[in-house]
This record gives sequence, structure tokens and C-alpha cells, in this order.
Amino acid sequence: MNQHEESTEREELLKIASARLNPAWTNPNFLVLRARKIIFEKWIHEFPQKKLQILDVGGRYQPYRPLFEERISQYIAVDILQTELVDVVGSGDALPFAANTFDVAIVTQVLEYFANPGDAGAHIYSALKPGGKLLASVASFAPRFVDEECWRFTPRGIRESLSLFKKVEIVPETLSLGGLVRTLNLAMHTYAHFQAVRKIHEWTFCPLLNGLGLWLERLKLTNNDQFTPNYSVLAEK
Ligand SMILES: C[S@@+](CC[C@H](N)C(=O)[O-])C[C@H]1O[C@@H](n2cnc3c(N)ncnc32)[C@H](O)[C@@H]1O
Repeated sequence: MNQHEESTEREELLKIASARLNPAWTNPNFLVLRARKIIFEKWIHEFPQKKLQILDVGGRYQPYRPLFEERISQYIAVDILQTELVDVVGSGDALPFAANTFDVAIVTQVLEYFANPGDAGAHIYSALKPGGKLLASVASFAPRFVDEECWRFTPRGIRESLSLFKKVEIVPETLSLGGLVRTLNLAMHTYAHFQAVRKIHEWTFCPLLNGLGLWLERLKLTNNDQFTPNYSVLAEK
């Protein structure tokens, strides 16, 4: 790959990352992505105010890196796919790092891919320093996005996969009512199938459904999370 191709690839990856961190109303995943950013910002704000060594497992795009701003002393991205942003090509359940190396591990939308998520949880646990934080997100009530995914998670499944951690906090990114609206939005987007029809959906029903979902979430009509599409997770070693 020449220098021009490398910088184009980098720009493309950063564009995808930015669209995940700051989702547009035309994005059918708006509700969960928006909520995740708010939840992560609050948690990161409470992290120790020092320079941090950060491990990003599944770090192909790194959407949440900007939330750490100038608090990063080292940022290592591990992914099974090599991209311009990946430092180590490898699997999160066979990490090549010494124990007690990192202050923070970011593991967003990746646990779904491991045949045994508990193994990945144990490897990430080992790579963290005592008191180190795991910042994760996992799909729960969601369609299969790609065939490589193995799992969807319930709160119990998350706790089992992270059983070594001393504290695990799990927050639904959207409760059931918002979750049902997000699922409808995603289903319509999927069935739109053709690029032109998808674009029409993105500029018509999609923002309307996102607005409806947000409104329902704000009304707090229920605390039910059985149809929660995605959970944010904070765990401490
Ligand atoms: C849905 S993407 C999530 C990317 C990013 N973490 C985010 O939140 O946008 C899943 C990523 O996990 C990577 N992945 C899948 N299996 C993995 C494994 N065993 N070890 C490390 N990364 C893996 C994929 O290559 C992909 O980059």
C-alpha cells in the first residue's frame, strides 16, 4: 500500500469511528450509539485523573479514543484484522502482553465474536493492572450483523463472562420501548435493501423513529430491559 492509499484508508476508518461516536439522526443505530457516548463520558470522567495506558480490543476503528483526549500515555489497538489503526494483529483471547500492563481496556461490540467470551474476559483481566477498568459494550436484543458473531448477551451472561472482575456495572443503552423502535428502524433499513431506497428511509422514517424512541425513553414509562438492544459495561479488576 502506498502512502496515499494508507492515508485514505486512515481517513475512511476515522470517518466510521466519528459516525459511531457522534451518530446522525439518519443512522438506525442512533439511539444506542448516542446513549453509549453519554454513559462512557460519565464513566471516563470518574477514572483516575492521570495519564492512562489503554488497550483497545477489536480496535479497528477506535470510536471512543477521542473521549480520553490528552489523558492517553499509550494506546494499543489489537484486532484480528490489520488496518492502519491496528498496532497488534491478534485475538483478544490470546493477548501478547504481560500481566498488569494496562489501566483501561476498551472492548466495544467485540465480546460477541469470541467462541468463549469468558476466555477473552480472563485474558483482558490479566492484562489490566489491579484497579484497572474495562469499558465494554455488547449487543443483546439485536439482529446478526455479520456471520462471524457468536453471541447475544443478557446481564447474567455479561457477569459470567467477566466473573473475575470485582465490580461489574451494566447499563442498558436503551430500554425496551426504545429498543423495539430501534429494532423496527434497523429492520426497515435492512429490508430497504437497495441503496436508493435505503437513502429514502434514512432521510424520512429513520429520524422520525429515532425521535420517537428518544421521546419514549425520556417518558420513562417502564424500566423493562428485556428488549434492550445493547448494554454498556464498566468492570473493575
Ligand atoms: C463490530 S466491530 C467493533 C469495532 C469497534 N470496537 C467499535 O466499537 O466500533 C468488531 C471488531 O472486533 C474485531 N474482532 C473480531 N474477533 C476478534 C478477536 N477474536 N480478537 C480481536 N478482535 C476481534 C473485528 O475484526 C472488528 O474490528
